[in-house]
Amino acid sequence: MFKDVSDPTPLGAPAAERHGAAKDPTCPPPGAAADWTVPQRWDALSAEDHAVWDFLFARQQDALAGRAVRAFEEGLEVLRLSRPGVPDFDELNERLFGRTGWTVVAVPGLVPDDVFFEHLRHRRFPAGNFIRKRSQLDYLEEPDVFHDVFGHVPLLANPAVADFMQALGELGLQALEAGALHRLARLYWYTVEFGLAREDDCLKIYGAGIVSSFGESRFSLESPEPNRIAFDLERVLRTAYRSDAFQKSYFVIDGLPGLLKVTEGRDFEALYRAAEADADIDPATVSPADRLVAVGA
Ligand SMILES: [Fe+2]
Repeated sequence: MFKDVSDPTPLGAPAAERHGAAKDPTCPPPGAAADWTVPQRWDALSAEDHAVWDFLFARQQDALAGRAVRAFEEGLEVLRLSRPGVPDFDELNERLFGRTGWTVVAVPGLVPDDVFFEHLRHRRFPAGNFIRKRSQLDYLEEPDVFHDVFGHVPLLANPAVADFMQALGELGLQALEAGALHRLARLYWYTVEFGLAREDDCLKIYGAGIVSSFGESRFSLESPEPNRIAFDLERVLRTAYRSDAFQKSYFVIDGLPGLLKVTEGRDFEALYRAAEADADIDPATVSPADRLVAVGA
C-alpha cells in the first residue's frame, strides 16, 4: 500500500536516510555549532506552532490508547511540562536527564550520519527545531519536533531504550567505517522507528515512526496486510525497507528489555560480512525460517 498526501508518511526514517543525509554534509549551516546544534529558540515559535503541537499531541494520544508499550505511556510524563505547546527543551531536559542521562539538542533539520551517531553515543538526541504546518499534518519531508520529541523522547526515559540508543550510536559510527551503514540503518528502522513488542501476550507499538503517525498506529497492529515477524537480527540486517509507504513487515521483540539483547555480545562486523554473502530480502516477503506472529494478507 502506497501513501499519498492524505496518508501519513512514515515519519522519522533511520539515521542514514532522514536524521542523517544532510544536503551539504561537509559543514554546518550558518548559525549552527560544529556539532550542528542550534539554539531551540522556543520564544520564536508562534501561537500557531504551539497549536499544531497541541492538536497532534491530543490526536496521537487518542490514537495510541491501549496500543503503545507501557513504557511509552509512562514516558509521556516527561513531556507534560508547565505549559502546553511545543516543549521548551531546557525544561524537558531537566526531566529527561534526571531519568536516564539523555538530553534533547536542537538541530535545524537533517544532520550528517557521523554527527547524528556521535550525538547518540553521548546520549544526546538531535531534534528538529521546527514544526510542520497545519497543511502538512500527515505528510513531512523531514522529521520535525513532533516526530522527534513525541515519537522518541518518551522511550528515551526508559532505561532499556536509553542504553539501546546509545549502543546504536556506537554501532552507527563503526558501521560508517566498515561501509555497512545500510545494514545498521535496517536495524534502526525495524526497531527504533518501526518496532513492535510483545507485552503481556499482546502486540504493542514502540517505534517512533509509528507512535508519531496517526494512520500507522492502527495499521501496524490491526491491518491484515503486513507481516509481523519475530525479531531476528540476521534476518533484519538482510531486509530492505520502504520509506514511502506503510511497512510490509514489522519485527516483534519480546518486551522492551529484549532490545538490549539484540546488540549485546554480537560481532557486527561478522554479521555484516555474513549478510553480504546472502541476497537481500524484500520487505513483503516471508521466508520459511521466519517465526511468524501474523502473516500479511
Ligand atoms: Fe525518528
